[in-house]
This record gives sequence, structure tokens and C-alpha cells, in this order.
Amino acid sequence: MNRTKEQEFLIQNMISQIVSYIAEDKNILVEDALKSFFDTNISKKIEDVETGYYLESPSYVYEILKKEEGFMSVNEIIKKRKSIRKYEKGAVVTEEQIKTILEAGMLAPSACNSRPFQFIVVRNREKLEEIMKIHPYTQMLETASLAIIVCADLNLQNEISEGYFPEDCGAVTENMLLQATELELGTCWCGVYPKEDKVANFRKLFNLPENIVPFNVIAVGKPAEEFGSRGFYEEEKVTWID
Ligand SMILES: Cc1cc2nc3c(=O)[nH]c(=O)nc-3n(C[C@H](O)[C@H](O)[C@H](O)COP(=O)(O)O)c2cc1C
Repeated sequence: MNRTKEQEFLIQNMISQIVSYIAEDKNILVEDALKSFFDTNISKKIEDVETGYYLESPSYVYEILKKEEGFMSVNEIIKKRKSIRKYEKGAVVTEEQIKTILEAGMLAPSACNSRPFQFIVVRNREKLEEIMKIHPYTQMLETASLAIIVCADLNLQNEISEGYFPEDCGAVTENMLLQATELELGTCWCGVYPKEDKVANFRKLFNLPENIVPFNVIAVGKPAEEFGSRGFYEEEKVTWID
């Protein structure tokens, strides 16, 4: 679509307003920011029509936002994620980014809403080295900026939803991996539970009581390799019952 300079200016204006909504309220969804923009700018829309400028639809502006501001849909984030095992050593991952990732984990569904999770954020280099010693498949921590250990608190599932913590912690973990991908951060999920020796070694290293189960280690850092899903759709794994 060819745009005049005025139209281009108008669109850039729309985009910067929408981006500022998002910057002001980090919890707002892009779609809601678009809705607010179009709901509160009726006079502008009319004026645009009067002056011969065309009216842009939310979905069209969303496309521009995606292209120009790097916004991604959930589907695009899922397709972008992969296990990253090479990171830029020494890259800073901010506390705000870490908390955004943790919050994504805490927003996952859990059996009876028992929320049986606990997190250990390890930024200490010596501790990261110790993890690498007790878990041979965590060597990517050499270049990662930090590790997050997802743990389950069995006391929170007593009687109400006993035994569901692996599903719960799995959902927590996947949310965190996807959130990190949106932040352009790489992750690698390294399994601990249900390997008894690994569980025991992590308990010892972090001085954890018996009710706390170290579930996995998530390496986090700035990727030094390309993103890109390794998964794919397999029709033979699906049974359709209509
Ligand atoms: C339960 C579980 C345990 C895993 N453990 C490790 C691990 O110890 N070390 C590692 O490098 N990757 C580990 N991975 C990552 C898998 O190797 C990876 O997800 C798989 O090969 C698919 O690749 P992708 O994540 O890039 O799509 C683990 C993944 C899961 C789900």
C-alpha cells in the first residue's frame, strides 16, 4: 500500500501511542492496547475520514506493530523457542526480566490451584559451577547468566492434590521458557526430578528440606545461537473423534 507522507505520519503516531500504552501498563495485552486506542480516538478517526486519510483497522495496526516493534503472537513465540545451550557469557539479565519470567511461571495452572512451586534464582558463579558438577547435562551454565531451579513444595499438595506436582511444575516451566523467548532470552530445561540421585544432590547443595523437591534447572541467558523450533506437526499422533 502506497502511503502519503501525512498518512505515514498518522500511522507512526498511532503506533507510538499504542506502544506508550503498553509501556505504561506492562500487563496490558497488545490487543487491549489496540482496543483502547481505537475506542478513545473516535474523533480522530472521523477527522481522518474527513481529511481523506483512511481508517486503519486494529488488525492492520497489529500487523505493523509486529513488523516494526517486534511484537509476537503466542503461536510465533512457541515456534521460536528452542533449547539454547550457548550464551553470551557475562550478559546481564535484569531483575525485572527475571521477575517477568518468574511471574509467567506463577501464572500457570495447577491442580486445585495448589500452586505448589518454589523458585531458587542462582546468579552466583560458584554455585552455578557446583550445579554443573552434580548434573552433567547442565554444562550450558558455563555461559548462561543465571539458573532458576523450579521446586515443588509437597506440603502444599497434601490431601488436596497429592501427586500432581510434576504436571504443575511442567506447566510452570513451559510458561517460563515461552516468556523468556518473548524477552529474547534463551533457556534450557534440564531435568532433575524424578532421578533420585539428582534430587538428593540438589537437596544437599541447596540445603532443602524433605518436602521440597528440586524439579529442574532452567538455564537463562542471552542466546549466542539462533532461535527456531525443532518441533513439528505430526498428524499420525492425533486421533480425531467427531
Ligand atoms: C524433562 C526434560 C529434561 C531435559 N533435560 C535436559 C538436560 O538435562 N540437559 C539439556 O541440555 N537439555 C535437556 N532438556 C532439553 C531437551 O533436550 C530438548 O527440549 C529437546 O531435545 C527438544 O529440543 P528443543 O527444546 O530445542 O525443542 C530436557 C527437556 C525436558 C522436557
